[in-house]
Amino acid sequence: MRQFIFKRPAYIVTFIVFLFHFSLPAQTIKTNEAIEARVNDLLRKMTLEEKVGQMNQYNGFWEVTGPAPKEGTAKQKYDHLRKGMVGAVLNVKGTENVRRLQEIAVKETRLGIPLLFGYDVIHGQKTMFPIPLGEAASWDLGAIEGSARIAAIEASAMGINWTFAPMVDITRDARWGRVMEGAGEDPYLGSKIGVARIKGFQGNDLSANNTIAATAKHFAGYGFAEAGRDYNTVDVGTSTLYNIILPPFKAAVDNNVQTVMNSFNVLNGIPATGNKFLQRDVLKGDWKFNGFIVSDWGSGIEMIDHGFANDLKEVAELSARAGSDMDMESYAYVTHLKELVESGKVDMSLIDDAVKRILRVKFQLGLFDDPYRYCDAVREKELIYHPDHLAAALEMAKRSIVLLKNSNTTSQGSQLLPLKKDQQKIAVIGALADDKNSALGSWRIGSDDNSAVSVLEGIKKYSANIKYAKGADLVIGKTDFINEVKINETDKSEFKAAVQVARNSDVVIMVLGEHGFQTGEGRSRTKLDLPGVQQQLLEEVYKVNKKIILVLMNGRPLAITWADKYIPAIVEAWQPGSQCGNAIAQVLFGDYNPAGKLPMTFPRSVGQVPLYYNHYNTGRPGPKSEVFWSHYSDESNKPLYPFGYGLSYTNFTYSNLIINDADPSNIKVRVTVTNIGKRAGEEVAQLYITDKMASIVRPVKELKGFKKFFLQPGEAIEVEFILRDTELGFFDNNGKFVTEPGEFVVMVGTNSQEGISGMFARK
Ligand code: BGC
Repeated sequence: MRQFIFKRPAYIVTFIVFLFHFSLPAQTIKTNEAIEARVNDLLRKMTLEEKVGQMNQYNGFWEVTGPAPKEGTAKQKYDHLRKGMVGAVLNVKGTENVRRLQEIAVKETRLGIPLLFGYDVIHGQKTMFPIPLGEAASWDLGAIEGSARIAAIEASAMGINWTFAPMVDITRDARWGRVMEGAGEDPYLGSKIGVARIKGFQGNDLSANNTIAATAKHFAGYGFAEAGRDYNTVDVGTSTLYNIILPPFKAAVDNNVQTVMNSFNVLNGIPATGNKFLQRDVLKGDWKFNGFIVSDWGSGIEMIDHGFANDLKEVAELSARAGSDMDMESYAYVTHLKELVESGKVDMSLIDDAVKRILRVKFQLGLFDDPYRYCDAVREKELIYHPDHLAAALEMAKRSIVLLKNSNTTSQGSQLLPLKKDQQKIAVIGALADDKNSALGSWRIGSDDNSAVSVLEGIKKYSANIKYAKGADLVIGKTDFINEVKINETDKSEFKAAVQVARNSDVVIMVLGEHGFQTGEGRSRTKLDLPGVQQQLLEEVYKVNKKIILVLMNGRPLAITWADKYIPAIVEAWQPGSQCGNAIAQVLFGDYNPAGKLPMTFPRSVGQVPLYYNHYNTGRPGPKSEVFWSHYSDESNKPLYPFGYGLSYTNFTYSNLIINDADPSNIKVRVTVTNIGKRAGEEVAQLYITDKMASIVRPVKELKGFKKFFLQPGEAIEVEFILRDTELGFFDNNGKFVTEPGEFVVMVGTNSQEGISGMFARK
């Protein structure tokens, strides 16, 4: 047996070398005196109009990622740019375009203050990595940091210096389309992943030409939209706010995230953009955040629809007072802020504070030293789709894949997966199998259409004995970022051909799920089943061939209860990005042993949602009578697959849980994990605690540690976790972090429901 050391399998050595090359130690971007002096010096020279200009962000003049308002024609924007009335733009990319606008800002405005170029670099720029929820399933912080690093390298090579990522919203409702963009339901995992992404984007030197400023978004509560309908009302309790929603933002601030984006939703009836409590009291006050807050797209002007502001002028007043430093596409500051200051409605000190924050980020990025540092066309050409980036995207895609089921199909105990590389006859069915676009996911405005390796292409590298049948279209008509996806709900005319192919094959790979544009912003669903006619297709094929491997490609947890009951092998691949087909094929044919674990609970039925592992117990958790306990009359309370769940081609056992609680602020938990199967593989050991009694009720379980490691067959490892006050305490209803004495249960295991437990008392 060996002590825990981070050992990796040989096949990922290249990737590690690559990551080592780009993965940087914790960065130290701090306000330094030299920058402060330059900021203050510049501020003194600025007119009120120029200051307000810095607080204004315009969408680039050709791409749109939100509803475009009527005002703000390109001409008006250019005029404003020349007058120094624009501090940042978004959605402009390409060194030539960036240089063109930067030259106007630098050469034509009075003070020559360079622009920030913001962009939604969410899971890659050109080389696409898996959707963030997929990456989160890797539980691999190094790989996630590496993915963000590469996204920053490609984006910065295209002129971008600021990404609107990571989204650190905790999400419990699979109906919400944006679950694809975050790290799932857990604040502990979500914080770690958010920080890894920030480190990847920002590196340890923000002024380098391949690092970009990151944004923690959406502050705060956006992930709790009621009924999972995007932009809907948010109504959360104080404890949920402090213990679930805010921690990933706090972790981001502690790790020097340069900007925070506020959000579309209300919190306690106050829209986030006009919310002083969130922005001034918590973020800039308690947390001492010294970067700037950008509004979400038009979230200022939307306060009128919320019924919180009468008109655009009031929007400007309320937002500025509440601490929203930069207005994205509401036209409120640029239109009204000057007169509001002149009439004494908004204090000049608030403007100065906002502008200093914005200038600080520009100085940190080195834009005043070289505004064109991101505008090197040669570098752009060299770095986009660099082979190292594609190799890393392949690794990340494999690490994101979760094996959901791999049951025995014969009494001799043979599993369908991994597939043998012999020439057995394989049927591949499903429109998604032959799709080079959907796998790129949803937030992929920088990517090239149809640039993914399809599943079919990937599988064909392993076998020549393949027959493909679409079975049915998934979508009808065109799909793009702006239009609603239309799903084929009726056309089953190609079922017959698919059934025929399945009948004549030894094994069937069915690639089903959601189109990439069915998740993401504005793409909520009321159902969590396989969209369109796919479920019927699956059942028809099952009638003639039961040896089905279901490969799921989707951007949210799905309630695939029927498939779980009947289909012997199920692989969750998410939307894996550029290297989709290669990653999936390597998993299916056993060249990679899957080790992903779900970052979000999969429900049995949409009616259970929101369903999450770290819920409270209720006063009636178990049957006290037949009827009067917390349950459904038509479905179990249990999930289909719990948080943290994921199988491997090998098996791991957990034993020897030892707790050393001599020091209450440094409790050591040790456990032995053994690979008892026949293959080498990785496992993620997860530690959960239960605080049995507290001054406010605590969740039934909370993740407080995890470790991913690689074990050869027969090999064992002793894993150690340390529980400190940070893990054992919680926020009370005044937002104060407290630790209390009492009994705790500790469970260490392979997912949130299976493991070995012990107890300790914290004195
Ligand atoms: C989204 C943000 C995004 C912004 C800019 C908004 O609609 O909510 O997450 O960064 O648009 O594209």
